[in-house]
Amino acid sequence: MTGTTRASSTPASWARATAAGDPLPEHVDVLVVGAGLSGVGMAARLLRDFPGRTLAVVEARHAMGGTWDLFRYPGVRSDSDMFTLGYADRPWRDRRSIAPGEAIRDYVRDTADESGVADVVRYGHRVVSADWSSAEALWTVTVDVEAADRAEADARVDDRAATVDATDRPGPAAPRRVTVTCGVLVACSGYYRYDEGYTPVFTGQDDFTGRVVHPQHWPDDLDVTGRRVVVIGSGATAITLVPALAERAEHVTMLQRSPTYVLSLPSRRRRPRLWRRLLPVGIDDALTRWRSIGMALLSYQASRRSPARMKAFLRSGVERRLPEGFDVDRHFQPSYDPWDQRLCITPDGALFAALRAGTASIVTDGVERFVPEGVRVEGRDGQEARVVPADVVVTATGLNLLLFGGMRLSVDGAPVDPATKLTYKGFMLADVPNFAFAIGYTNASWTLKIDLVGRYLSRLLRHMDRRGWRWAAPSSPTREGRTMPLIDLSSGYVARGRHLLPRQGVRAPWRMHQNYPRDVLSMRFSSLTRDGMRFGR
Ligand SMILES: Cc1cc2nc3c(=O)[nH]c(=O)nc-3n(C[C@H](O)[C@H](O)[C@H](O)COP(=O)(O)OP(=O)(O)OC[C@H]3O[C@@H](n4cnc5c(N)ncnc54)[C@H](O)[C@@H]3O)c2cc1C
Ligand SMILES: NC(=O)c1ccc[n+]([C@@H]2O[C@H](COP(=O)([O-])OP(=O)(O)OC[C@H]3O[C@@H](n4cnc5c(N)ncnc54)[C@H](OP(=O)(O)O)[C@@H]3O)[C@@H](O)[C@H]2O)c1
Repeated sequence: MTGTTRASSTPASWARATAAGDPLPEHVDVLVVGAGLSGVGMAARLLRDFPGRTLAVVEARHAMGGTWDLFRYPGVRSDSDMFTLGYADRPWRDRRSIAPGEAIRDYVRDTADESGVADVVRYGHRVVSADWSSAEALWTVTVDVEAADRAEADARVDDRAATVDATDRPGPAAPRRVTVTCGVLVACSGYYRYDEGYTPVFTGQDDFTGRVVHPQHWPDDLDVTGRRVVVIGSGATAITLVPALAERAEHVTMLQRSPTYVLSLPSRRRRPRLWRRLLPVGIDDALTRWRSIGMALLSYQASRRSPARMKAFLRSGVERRLPEGFDVDRHFQPSYDPWDQRLCITPDGALFAALRAGTASIVTDGVERFVPEGVRVEGRDGQEARVVPADVVVTATGLNLLLFGGMRLSVDGAPVDPATKLTYKGFMLADVPNFAFAIGYTNASWTLKIDLVGRYLSRLLRHMDRRGWRWAAPSSPTREGRTMPLIDLSSGYVARGRHLLPRQGVRAPWRMHQNYPRDVLSMRFSSLTRDGMRFGR
């Protein structure tokens, strides 16, 4: 990693000498953007693999954990198993294979504490832009620094909003702008906007006398006990929320415009058999992990190769869990094939249990408009237009995609438009040096891919160290051929943001394989020099 080290006053042991409140230095060898699951995992690996180098993590929010800190709605949990959503180097040993958001947040924080990452995170640091200089082989990164008390000040303003005239309110302090240079820039900034979820405008929303909430900003004071709740949507958010809300609410209606495939899975790992208990813990971890990888891969491959069989399998799972006469075709039979969109899971059949108990129901219809007493539906497919009564409406309508946390990239002053770039092995952009990003799998746990990206980056940096290279960049293929968006699901949130996504090609190394074992070969054991990577000093 010769190129990432700059003759500077920054101590080589900065990672260990620094404390979380210290200012960001002027230069670090590696800058990681984001302290979520990916950023913490990536930073932990790089700190361990390159103990003599300087590394900082800049995090826009004032908390660690990303997704698992932001989302606080009732029942928030993983929808892939924790044995693969957890890090390969710090196995998830809890018996819960589907874990609540809070447990995942704690796991990320504990990992950061144990690995020393907690000391190198700078909170309230939002990266705005980054420019690569070929002459210096350095990124110059512009960061907006927001004081920790600003979030509290904003909250106080909100509390007072009802009683204080807007002109009297103290305006939030403007962020301070700083720059930092780094040899390698790693964007672990997730894939969606943190400040707002996707909220379509429904006609008549202001007429509604109840409360409308978006799951991304769940209010602390919302108590649904004894109230009628309508959840609009049937993505993973709705499938999670409905049974959780049904535990308290008078009734929950999941109002879906179109159905989703829903699969019940056990929330806990089965008790290990005797021989398992006799195995060393590391082997048990590996077996559990590979079993999960195998199951997910099998389900995905079976869906792609025999969609009709998979549809029948999923349908029979639903039918078995619902009372006779339930209209499975209407409410659980999507028009697309399994895995054209992410499959939703309901741990231990919680959604079906709520439907059986009558605490929840499903309406499959379009929203016509909001009315004072609830939501009026269109009355599609021979149904009657009618009002679904509600005291609370939850718009579980999804996310807004955002790439690289909104940071603008440029190379020698020329703006980089990611949407026109090909991705290399799903983690670098063609012709953009010393820049990596963390986008995980859509058909398996996110972290599986991020672990491979971390390993590859370590290999690449070691190689550069040995040869004295200061930069590495994948060079654009001479013939591009057909290209596709990086994420090729048909889900609404992907369709809405497709124009922002970088492209992938049809063959290696420009293809993002949604296939972990294949990526293990391509990322861990492939040649670093033969796959179109250019190096320079
Ligand atoms: C509710 C929900 C549930 C999910 N469940 C699963 C699941 O069960 N399994 C699965 O595989 N995937 C799941 N996903 C996908 C999920 O996002 C990933 O699994 C994973 O948590 C992403 O981690 P990350 O660190 O890459 O991104 P994030 O968790 O989004 O963290 C990104 C961090 O970067 C920071 N950041 C962003 N922009 C900037 C900037 N410009 N400057 C500085 N900091 C910045 C953010 O503040 C944030 O802390 C889920 C997604 C959601 C929304
Ligand atoms: N761990 C978890 O359990 C978990 C929880 C939440 C989210 N996630 C992840 O986060 C991502 C987003 O999930 P999500 O459920 O929030 O969003 P989503 O998958 O995009 O689902 C949004 C839902 O809202 C509906 N919708 C959107 N606009 C609408 C409108 N105008 N009128 C009526 N319905 C409308 C969509 O209907 P159509 O299908 O008809 O478009 C869909 O059912 C996914 O990657 C998911 O895996 C995971």
